[in-house]
Amino acid sequence: MQLITSLIITCLLFGFCSALKEGQTCVSNGNCDSGLHCETCVANGNVRPRCTRIQPVNPTSKVKGLPYNRYSWLTTHNSFARLGKKSATGSLILAPTNQQDSITDQLNNGVRGLMLDMYDFQNDIWLCHSFGGQCFNNTAFQPAINVLKEIQAFLEANPSEIVTIIIEDYVTSPRGLSKVFDAAGLRKFWFPVSRMPKNGGSWPTVDDMVQKNQRMVVFTSKSAKEASEGIAYQWRYMVENQYGNGGMIAGSCPNRAESPAMNATSRSLVLINYFPDIPDVTQACRHNSAPLISMMNTCHVAAGNRWPNFIAVDFYKRSDGGGAPEAIDVANGHLVCGCENIVICRANMTFGVCDMPEADISPAPATKPVAHDSSFANLESRPVPLQWLFISILVAILLQL
Ligand SMILES: *[C@@H]1O[C@H](CO)[C@@H](O)[C@H](O)[C@H]1NC(C)=O
Ligand SMILES: *[C@@H]1O[C@H](CO)[C@@H](O)[C@H](O)[C@H]1NC(C)=O
Ligand SMILES: *[C@@H]1O[C@H](CO)[C@@H](O)[C@H](O)[C@H]1NC(C)=O
Repeated sequence: MQLITSLIITCLLFGFCSALKEGQTCVSNGNCDSGLHCETCVANGNVRPRCTRIQPVNPTSKVKGLPYNRYSWLTTHNSFARLGKKSATGSLILAPTNQQDSITDQLNNGVRGLMLDMYDFQNDIWLCHSFGGQCFNNTAFQPAINVLKEIQAFLEANPSEIVTIIIEDYVTSPRGLSKVFDAAGLRKFWFPVSRMPKNGGSWPTVDDMVQKNQRMVVFTSKSAKEASEGIAYQWRYMVENQYGNGGMIAGSCPNRAESPAMNATSRSLVLINYFPDIPDVTQACRHNSAPLISMMNTCHVAAGNRWPNFIAVDFYKRSDGGGAPEAIDVANGHLVCGCENIVICRANMTFGVCDMPEADISPAPATKPVAHDSSFANLESRPVPLQWLFISILVAILLQL
């Protein structure tokens, strides 16, 4: 009995038994299967650390070839405002923070929508929170070019991935945004405004975007920049619900002031915000769980039975189980194949015919995607490495002596 206990403890502590599924008790991230990490959600009364999702399923690994607006992309609100980071000015950050990891880590976990607040600051473009519309040392995170270079490196290394950047735009310097995107080497990935559907039509397919290497979609909140710099004005293409506390009232999904009505079908993209006015790392796990899925259902109706193409949250890794990645999988299920979850979708299946026999659902090994799979959840289990099991048995026996 003692032997078994110490065996289990050894195994958990050193992460040897690294194949735990969502919801299983863990001690460290290494215990959990890929796409999961180990954490509690005290805000939900869940004090036992469990494996929770941090990565959605890559929808294009299930079904390729659909228009860009037939997929849902995990989006981080204030992607740049990282917990515990000092300002690149050297000052302490006195502004709220919204995420826990770097842009590179977010992208590697399958985040595909980034919300970035950009300002003129110190003769450059910075990622910042404002105070009266102004950026200060204490609210300035870092120069935008740093983060744009991370995005550039990701697009370079992952030639079939598409990233969407949604800019809250305070930049007034002449061609300020264009210059910083150019300097980061991102021009070659630019998806041109001329190819965006103007009246609620379908977007080009993801395959077409990949083939033309137009894999970065950029939106600005400044309408004039569409004509002057070729940067798409967000609300010409997208509807968006109210952000902050006003967007978290159960059963209600009003549009934000700048957006057309949620049911405006002249816009083919739908974005759901779900985060409070003041970011809260402890409550985020509760918000990103059942209430998020519930709001997605409310917004689905408000948007004229449309599922979200973007779900924007704070602390995207926090949840009590499936979290924001699960919400994305559900949205993708509906968008891609008309079913409850993307895991059910298969190439060439009839839309909405979901009750496949078990044998039909499991993917044939030959059709499994190989390249660039690592940035998404692998829902199949990994075998426990045998040699580690033996080592941990040995350690456990030694501990008895
Ligand atoms: C802001 O930071 C810069 C360094 O990036 C420094 O030169 C400047 O003095 C700081 N301003 C204030 C008001 O502290
Ligand atoms: C859109 O929603 C509004 C309420 O926000 C409603 O008055 C209007 O009839 C809806 N339009 C359509 C086409 O469903
Ligand atoms: C789906 O259909 C296309 C065109 O008919 C075909 O080329 C492709 O092999 C099919 N894919 C699968 C997984 O059956």
